[in-house]
Amino acid sequence: MNVRLFKPSVGEQELAKIKEAFDRSWLGMGPALKAFEKKWAAFIECEQAYGLNSATAALHLALMSFGFPEGKKVLVPSLTFASSATAALYNRLEPVFVDSDPVTLGMSLEDLKRKYDEDCVAIMAVHYAGHPLPMDEIMDFAQEKGLKVVEDCAHTAGAKYKGKMIGTWGHIGCFSFEEKKVMTTGDGGMICSNDPDALKDIKALRWVGIDKDNWKTAKKYTDTSNMDAMHWFYEISLPGYKYNMNDLAASIGLAQLERLPEMNRRRSAIIRRYLDGIAGMAHVQPLLPFEPERYYYWMFAIRTEQRDDLMVHLKSKGIATGCHYTPLSTQPLFERYGGSCPYVEQEAHKFITLPLHADLTNEEVDYVLEHLQHFQPQSKTGVSEISASKA
Ligand SMILES: Cc1ncc(COP(=O)(O)O)c(C=O)c1O
Repeated sequence: MNVRLFKPSVGEQELAKIKEAFDRSWLGMGPALKAFEKKWAAFIECEQAYGLNSATAALHLALMSFGFPEGKKVLVPSLTFASSATAALYNRLEPVFVDSDPVTLGMSLEDLKRKYDEDCVAIMAVHYAGHPLPMDEIMDFAQEKGLKVVEDCAHTAGAKYKGKMIGTWGHIGCFSFEEKKVMTTGDGGMICSNDPDALKDIKALRWVGIDKDNWKTAKKYTDTSNMDAMHWFYEISLPGYKYNMNDLAASIGLAQLERLPEMNRRRSAIIRRYLDGIAGMAHVQPLLPFEPERYYYWMFAIRTEQRDDLMVHLKSKGIATGCHYTPLSTQPLFERYGGSCPYVEQEAHKFITLPLHADLTNEEVDYVLEHLQHFQPQSKTGVSEISASKA
């Protein structure tokens, strides 16, 4: 058996939507994107949502939209993907790395408060694995200190924390539709806000500085009811990027969004099966207190003292594993910003991410569990505890 770590769940529904875009012969930024943005805003319960080509782009523009002066600081968890911190660098801001809470592995509030100083302007609130941060407490602290909050929701979509949609607690929420995520558009992202001012320049920033819907403009090229010759005219007032989502991606997104609740439920059922299966295993523990009936997770992982041996064992059985993440505070790129995160830096060598995607079968999950169970833990000296005790 070969069990994939992640896999996009795509098929006939996505193909049907792509065909609609082909039939329109409009693949760039157009009506499918508009429809996807509208449906996404309704789903996430936010006022505004703009489709981009990645969450990385969304995080970049989210921090840019606040207009922070160069050299200010952004509080970022150490345990996250590169983009949560490079978004600060793109804006000439400095990341300040925050350690993880030992239980949830989300950003530790205590360390956040400890690392804060008067140069801090924002918090990058990452819902690690999909487990929600205590957004009520984070927002209280942010308000007290005058900080902006960007929610990095690359690992979840569609769950509520204390009755409010994750992604709408902060000033701006960013989502990822990269191929491995809870839903996909191939590559893609969404930037969302309930603050009418926060995203006022996003349309220009995602389209090389031009705030114009070019499929609407194209209709004007042959519109005889308006015979002026300026239908092509546009102005550039911002140094924008080429960050837009296109209609091909948005078409996939429209189909995926319809399927998202069902895919979320399936991933939750798989996590419950994993949790029940590992409950009696002394050598592995769930990575964090997963609550799959309450929240939607992108990944499932365990902690073990024998990460490498167990990974090799699973690999030998055709089971793919991963490790999310090497703490950013230990990466060469970020060395110069200093600030250690001792808990997560010592703990991360225990993490193993296990296969999780909406198409994973119960048979595959049971196969993973069986081989987790069969693993013979080695003692620190490399000698099997079982064979050592027999000797
Ligand atoms: C926490 C986090 N933030 C941001 C991103 C960036 O997402 P994208 O690949 O859509 O740019 C990822 C991608 O894995 C992520 O895990």
